[in-house]
Amino acid sequence: MQYGSFPFYRPRRMRATEVARQLIRETELSERDFIYPVFVRPGKGERREVPSMPGVFQLSVDLLAAEMKELLRLGVRAVLLFGLPEHKDECGSEAYSDEGIVQHAVRAIRAQAPDMYVITDVCMCEYTSHGHCGKLTDAGEVDNDATLEWLAAEAVSHARAGAHMVAPSDMMDGRVRHLRAALDAEGFTHVPIMSYSTKYASGFYGPFRDAAESAPSFGDRRAYQMDPANAAEGVREAALDIAEGADVVMVKPALSYLDVLHRVKSEFAFPTVAYNVSGEYAMVKAAAQNGWIDEQRVVLELLTSMKRAGADMIITYHAKDAARWLRERG
Ligand code: PBG
Ligand code: ZN
Repeated sequence: MQYGSFPFYRPRRMRATEVARQLIRETELSERDFIYPVFVRPGKGERREVPSMPGVFQLSVDLLAAEMKELLRLGVRAVLLFGLPEHKDECGSEAYSDEGIVQHAVRAIRAQAPDMYVITDVCMCEYTSHGHCGKLTDAGEVDNDATLEWLAAEAVSHARAGAHMVAPSDMMDGRVRHLRAALDAEGFTHVPIMSYSTKYASGFYGPFRDAAESAPSFGDRRAYQMDPANAAEGVREAALDIAEGADVVMVKPALSYLDVLHRVKSEFAFPTVAYNVSGEYAMVKAAAQNGWIDEQRVVLELLTSMKRAGADMIITYHAKDAARWLRERG
């Protein structure tokens, strides 16, 4: 007899009741896996919904404490901060200023919601007038090595404000080593780096660029973000960042890249995060608003698939809803 062959083995037996299903369940989703992205904007009392991301708001610093309390009440204990600066310039100077919007936000959260774990996105595109992720050469290309200095200054400034962890998303070569050296030199040896190691040049970032007001004013990001056709290169990118000192590696976007996520996790057995990006969120929201899908079922199924593929944690705009649903479901 072949192993597990019909009729001696009937898989349906262990699907017959909810208890049986739970006993053999391989993947358990929890609100503890979630990291919630937060967009911080200037002003007071500002709460502006992002049109392409229903339920996602840009918030001013004074509204962050209440937001953090709501998240903590739901069991979501980590946030990823993005900043919309007051002024943009060629050099993105607000990115690495101690008086920048993210630095203010970090200090406010650390003071008013001490239980929240604060991760900051480290990149230049929200702060530069041209919207690219680094310093431009005269020819209009992003200058890798010159950009490293800005990113290091930005990461150190975030750490000085009290960030628990920094997350570089720029895709410059060598930035993890550069950030690690700069953080260590300033005494921030305890601050981990979550590297956007494996980040594809993706159409799924569209709504985010509305949310963060960070679309490039010319060209695209294909000269620094990865080609969606490449999986082995994605594994190589993670290997490089681990060698450079990354504490957590990422695959982004999540849904179209679950194969890459699975390979990265099984290759390195390293803490791995999936970024369930803005376009993935927008698609689900649009279909749900049309009554075409059951939002709760679909969201929990999608997030489960990311964990099943190998994610230890998930950055997701669905975090609040999903946490609520998981609690209700018990
Ligand atoms: C900035 C950054 C982007 C995202 C996270 N950090 C956008 C981009 O690279 O254009 C995308 C997040 C999302 O779509 O939800 N470098
Ligand atoms: Zn960027």
